[in-house]
Amino acid sequence: MIETLHKRRVLLVIGGGIAAYKALDLIRRLRERGASVCPVLTAGAQEFVTPLAAAALAGERAHTDLFDRASEAEIGHIKLARQADAVVVAPATANLMASMAGGHAADLATTILLATTLPILLAPAMNVQMWAHPATRRNRAILEGDGIRIVGPNAGRMAEPESGPGRMAEPNEIADALERMLGLQAGDGPLVGRRVLVTSGPTHEPIDPVRYIANRSSGRQGHAIAAAAAAAGAAVTLVSGPVALPDPPGVAVVRVETAREMLAAVEAALPADIAVFAAAVADWRPEHEAGTKKIKKDGTGPAPMSLVENPDILATIARRPAGRPPLVVGFAAETDRVIEHARAKIARKGCDLIVANDVSAEGGVMGGADNAVHVIRRDGAIETWPRLGKDEVARRLVAYFAGLLAD
Ligand code: CTP
Repeated sequence: MIETLHKRRVLLVIGGGIAAYKALDLIRRLRERGASVCPVLTAGAQEFVTPLAAAALAGERAHTDLFDRASEAEIGHIKLARQADAVVVAPATANLMASMAGGHAADLATTILLATTLPILLAPAMNVQMWAHPATRRNRAILEGDGIRIVGPNAGRMAEPESGPGRMAEPNEIADALERMLGLQAGDGPLVGRRVLVTSGPTHEPIDPVRYIANRSSGRQGHAIAAAAAAAGAAVTLVSGPVALPDPPGVAVVRVETAREMLAAVEAALPADIAVFAAAVADWRPEHEAGTKKIKKDGTGPAPMSLVENPDILATIARRPAGRPPLVVGFAAETDRVIEHARAKIARKGCDLIVANDVSAEGGVMGGADNAVHVIRRDGAIETWPRLGKDEVARRLVAYFAGLLAD
């Protein structure tokens, strides 16, 4: 493991939520990358993990009390708030976010967060409804306005039966985001200082708890674009449906399952300078929400299933009245009359550019390692590229996008 956080000191505030157990793994990941970690646990956090466990993994004492005589004599809370390179709050609960947004200093954690002048990274974790609540959205906007960085939350299954954004980002994603915040992953490519959003992979639309509608997208092209954009220096968020690929290095990955989750995650990840919609979103989903019970055979043949259309994520973002990314890129999977269909798609969806690929069975593009694309712009310009590896297509696309932004 390369020590990308060599000699960096991280003050890790652990909030009170079930995701606190993942904060222990985060300590390990940060130390693997060469950082030293000073854990601070809120009272709530101690309901889930013990200061002893945090201290054992950090290899130093964990702090819990504002008025702890021993610790104040040794190192005051103000000093604690200074002697590090960054503060990471994981999990950042709704309550901690509200306290921070309101400037409260009721315990050691919130006092440190108010007293510190260090860069702060939050990894929120909470119930889906709490994350979606207008109060949390307001608090998040205030915190972002204060220059605080946020990583995640991811969509997916949580402790409660509901699913959607609310799950804490994975420890390695948090460590990556920390490196980006500290400028340790800054490349020197053409997209330095730019934010790029990429969707990738298929979506899964549940029929019942065990069955779903899906498609053959592997996510390879979308993931390669995210990796190439990060390598070009951009801050990249990749919103990915279920894929069997590793996370691209230096990219913040938000995992989702359904089209509706993907749209919510995309909206949460804006603003962006470039948005690339490479996901093969399921056009339809079963009309009835998948319950908790498997649909059983009852001898009368297959259960009828009616479908409803999913939101069109690309069109929704391309037609956004405010905050539309300056460059919105769609993909088109076509089996015939590729360019004609792609042109129509630009008009229909309102995007700036379509990357059209021929997915007819002979090509082996879907799920394969190569791609042959046409890049079609709204102003009518077309480029047709030879058959190339998906990584090379990604690099060329990223260079092409950077050129358009620079014009
Ligand atoms: N897309 C999306 N949300 C959807 C459907 C599609 O964001 N619900 C995006 C895809 O990510 C892709 C483009 O729209 O960028 C593809 O458009 P789509 O209309 O689905 O076209 P094709 O898949 O190419 O096929 P068809 O024209 O037959 O629908």
